Amino acid sequence: MPNVFGAPHKGTEPRHEQVVFCQDEASGLRAIIAVYSTALGPSLGGTRFYPYGSEEEALADVLNLSRGMAYKNALAGLDLGGGKAVIIGDPAKDKSEAMLRAYGRFVQSLNGRYYTACDVGTFSEDMDIVARECRFVTGRTVAHGGAGDSSILTAFGVFQGMRAAAETVWGRPTLRGRRVGVEGVGKVGHRLVEHLREDGADVVICDVDETAVDRVRALHPEVEVVADAGAMVRTELDVYAPCALGGSLDDDTVPVLAAKVVCGAANNQLAHPGVEKRLADRGVLYAPDYVVNSGGVIQVADEIEGFNFDRAKARAAGIYDTTRKIFALASDEGVPPAVAADRLAERRMSEVGRLRGILL
Ligand SMILES: NC(=O)c1ccc[n+]([C@@H]2O[C@H](COP(=O)([O-])OP(=O)(O)OC[C@H]3O[C@@H](n4cnc5c(N)ncnc54)[C@H](O)[C@@H]3O)[C@@H](O)[C@H]2O)c1
Repeated sequence: MPNVFGAPHKGTEPRHEQVVFCQDEASGLRAIIAVYSTALGPSLGGTRFYPYGSEEEALADVLNLSRGMAYKNALAGLDLGGGKAVIIGDPAKDKSEAMLRAYGRFVQSLNGRYYTACDVGTFSEDMDIVARECRFVTGRTVAHGGAGDSSILTAFGVFQGMRAAAETVWGRPTLRGRRVGVEGVGKVGHRLVEHLREDGADVVICDVDETAVDRVRALHPEVEVVADAGAMVRTELDVYAPCALGGSLDDDTVPVLAAKVVCGAANNQLAHPGVEKRLADRGVLYAPDYVVNSGGVIQVADEIEGFNFDRAKARAAGIYDTTRKIFALASDEGVPPAVAADRLAERRMSEVGRLRGILL
């Protein structure tokens, strides 16, 4: 059983503030809400609906994910802390109006300490149902004032991070003439291809889903296709952009990676701690995943105020400056960018969070 009071943490930073187990037997709801930090404001993070094999597995996941959200939200410049929730079950079979509404009542009971949104297994339509019992919901449908598909700004943000990486490695913030491999051309990946082609990059793609590949090739017949993720990492590339699943950088892929830069949308790209150092030792510049893929959370956070696309896009454009700042700090402090990003996030949580100690 994960130790909640001594949950996964680094250094001297605080541990989870609050972990709530929620059960409604009649609807079958079994959920865990984890609030890692409210130092910067109400915690924000999506609801993952997943058939976890055990309660322990669900708890470990929500503890990890909520901590990750605190760091992501801090570096996205949001006045929001980090939280996340999991619902244990198979979304295809177990999801019901009663269950989502029961969940909404538990989120409401936290009185704004936690804002929920979509994640794996939950959709904007589900958030509309949750919102019938709860005010602290974002990521809703356009019909209900929501912002719609978050992958638009996620892809835009990843592209901004990639421009910052290109500037650091090659001196100019453009991918023109570079060969970029996009692994996974789903919602985010295919939009990233658009940005890259517009900027003049040569693009290589792969996807396990043939229809996803065909969609890209229909618009861009010039895009090269490689067989699979294994072939992608070995291909002669300037930039490798993992936009499928997490964990693609591990002890097998890092030694054979041909690219000089890694920058993509996938969450948790580093399979385990220490991979960031191996990348740095090989001279590969890694743009931390949670920094460059924060366009989506910037979008749902904007929705809390009443969505304005231009305002959200302007904030997502800031991912370029944040990524540059991280590379500069990494170089100054002689640490990999992933470590520099964590330090910058912790600094903001501590410096800005401290201000709440001033009594108003
Ligand atoms: N959508 C967002 O706003 C957002 C925000 C932050 C992070 N992310 C992360 O970015 C990644 C992509 O998200 P998405 O919304 O585009 O998801 P998606 O499901 O639309 O796309 C993922 C694509 O990867 C493909 N894929 C799966 N396994 C693969 C493999 N082994 N090799 C090659 N391709 C494979 C899938 O077929 C699919 O086309 C995910 O890791 C997600 O967690 C997404």
